[in-house]
Amino acid sequence: MSLERLKGLEQSALMPTYKRLPVEFVRGEGALLWDDEGREYLDLLAGIAVDNAGHCHPDVVTAVTDQVSKLIHVSNLFYTEPGMDLADRLSRSSLGGLVFLCNSGAEANEAAIKLARRHKPGGGFVVLQGAFHGRTMGALSATPQAEKQDPFAPLLPGFAAVCADPAALTAAVTDQTAAVLIEPIQGEGGVQIVPDDVLIAAREACDRHGALLIFDEVQTGAGRTGTLWAYQQTPVVPDAMTVAKGIGAGFPVGALITAAGCSTSLVAGDHGSTFAGGPVTAAAALASLGVVSTENLLAQVVRLGAKLMAGLAELPGVESVRGRGLMIGADITGDAPAVVLAALQQEALVINATGPSTLRFVPPLVITEQEIDDALERLSRLPLA
Ligand SMILES: Cc1ncc(COP(=O)(O)O)c(C=O)c1O
Repeated sequence: MSLERLKGLEQSALMPTYKRLPVEFVRGEGALLWDDEGREYLDLLAGIAVDNAGHCHPDVVTAVTDQVSKLIHVSNLFYTEPGMDLADRLSRSSLGGLVFLCNSGAEANEAAIKLARRHKPGGGFVVLQGAFHGRTMGALSATPQAEKQDPFAPLLPGFAAVCADPAALTAAVTDQTAAVLIEPIQGEGGVQIVPDDVLIAAREACDRHGALLIFDEVQTGAGRTGTLWAYQQTPVVPDAMTVAKGIGAGFPVGALITAAGCSTSLVAGDHGSTFAGGPVTAAAALASLGVVSTENLLAQVVRLGAKLMAGLAELPGVESVRGRGLMIGADITGDAPAVVLAALQQEALVINATGPSTLRFVPPLVITEQEIDDALERLSRLPLA
């Protein structure tokens, strides 16, 4: 009954920007979700790579409830402790430079685009084909996908998209390039790992031409790949990176983080955000980072990721599997969106498709070995072929 009411409200009140699956979730714990009728689901999507610390982790719940009863918002015109601590923690745990806090992945990339323009006024951008950097106009300009871009033309000029090839990248970066923006593993693009030689070529080209190398770690960050940040498993260090999704445990938190050696910063009057670094969202992010930074959890992400990948590779209908840690993509011979619906309805398993034949698995990082076994068993009963 309740789901029918929500479908009605969706039709009468919401712009139809999302295609929802027919389920209403009302509770979550760890890697489990429950719907309005009490049915239990195993979650291998984590709110699209967001609930890294698991649903309603007690540390996050305590931090948020403590903070919300003391102070919710005063703005960036004043000092509050959680936001400052969050900037410090993000910087120390990654590139060591200055941080701009915001509320989402797209916003973090907007800040990165402005940083690059501060770095080289009027400069252009190089991005990879298949990239996804967000839906706002700047981030969309960096997302070279015709069906997403074309209805909203004209976009920001100056964005060149190249294939993930060292020679193509080297040729595309010039003295007029302000930044190269790369997801070290393309998430929405189907979990495509950008090869090391492409990242090295990008680093060298940026150094040669005085451009910034910026990693978009919105999806790969916060422990997702088995290190706190994905760049830590690559042979290069970027000049800046953008993060969001998993750092906030479901609260809207994003950030642009620069490297200690980065000479460029956004300065007073350049940029801002009313909500950014607010005490409640920052408290959530601090608690969430506390959970996903532990060595034990990161080691478990690597181990269980390998187990899930190996198990997937053995299922009939699975053509190829790729990924790092608990960010996994699988190409199947069957119809991926149909499998997603069957998984939900028949097996109470929450998964996701990034394309007609690609399934994506980004479970909460706190998922247990038993739950991975259980997920593989449920997947084996689905029409993957
Ligand atoms: C790599 C990457 N960058 C940016 C974004 C945009 O993040 P948000 O939806 O928080 O704006 C996403 C979202 O999927 C993403 O995967």
